[in-house]
Amino acid sequence: MYCACPSRRAENPTLNRMKTMKGQVALVTGAGSGIGLAAAQAFAAAGAAVVLADVNEPVEQVAKLLAVGHRALAIQCDVSDEKAVEVMVAQTVATFGRLDAAYNNAGINSPVMETADASSEEYDKVMSVNLRGVWNCMKYELRQMREQNSGAIVNCSSMGGLIGIADRAVYHASKHGVLGLTKSAALEYATRNIRINAICPGIISTPMVEEMVAREPEAMQALLKDVPMNRLGTPEEIAAVVLWLCSPAASFIIGQAIAVDGGYTVR
Ligand SMILES: NC(=O)c1ccc[n+]([C@@H]2O[C@H](COP(=O)([O-])OP(=O)(O)OC[C@H]3O[C@@H](n4cnc5c(N)ncnc54)[C@H](O)[C@@H]3O)[C@@H](O)[C@H]2O)c1
Repeated sequence: MYCACPSRRAENPTLNRMKTMKGQVALVTGAGSGIGLAAAQAFAAAGAAVVLADVNEPVEQVAKLLAVGHRALAIQCDVSDEKAVEVMVAQTVATFGRLDAAYNNAGINSPVMETADASSEEYDKVMSVNLRGVWNCMKYELRQMREQNSGAIVNCSSMGGLIGIADRAVYHASKHGVLGLTKSAALEYATRNIRINAICPGIISTPMVEEMVAREPEAMQALLKDVPMNRLGTPEEIAAVVLWLCSPAASFIIGQAIAVDGGYTVR
């Protein structure tokens, strides 16, 4: 039973288990910016050693974490490159000894465009990062977690993985695909102490969205009108749920697509 009294709350084993990731190792892709950076910072604040991987090596971001006493490592990795992903996971394990949590966050946007006008190059580019990138990462993370008999993975989908929006077919297809990978892999590892889930952010205030606002102001205005909470989300609001999904507090949750979207997909 939930109790609002602070002293009783401290005895709640689920809440106590959420407090720390001390001694654990977390890997975040696309950690140089936006949601990925916020997630890496949240893992570090919870006590984990964190690997920040990004196509642009996030050395400054890692330097800031090291400066305040966290354990962190920067890796340059393009998630669409399977060999680079294999090396990323190997470097993580060589440096910190294991892999307990992975947030497969790296992703790119696609232009707002009618399906009939989209190019095959754009389709391949978006799919190679958003879908194949997640598949690449899961493959090598799972090889390590399978050996350890433990681990938690969160894949980054989107509210675009749950619904369709006109002129967004390619991006939405990639994010729907992430949910297919997540659900199927979650079932494979359900009895092996490895949990796999997905997060579906709504419209979050990050460089990706700022760039979209600058490029397509009308499309963004139209999207924002449909957010019941009437505001953008913050990267920290996504990071908090990623951390929770990787913690023992979420020990009975697998294969879920958790919408963190201010109510966008409720209607
Ligand atoms: N911001 C939003 O509103 C929103 C909504 C739903 C889902 N998402 C998803 O959240 C994730 C993070 O988005 P964000 O808004 O923080 O974006 P962002 O552009 O701020 O950050 C993305 C990071 O990923 C890195 N990256 C890009 N391609 C990469 C590659 N091939 N390999 C490795 N790293 C790569 C970039 O360098 C950047 O640091 C993406 O998967 C995105 O699709 C974002």
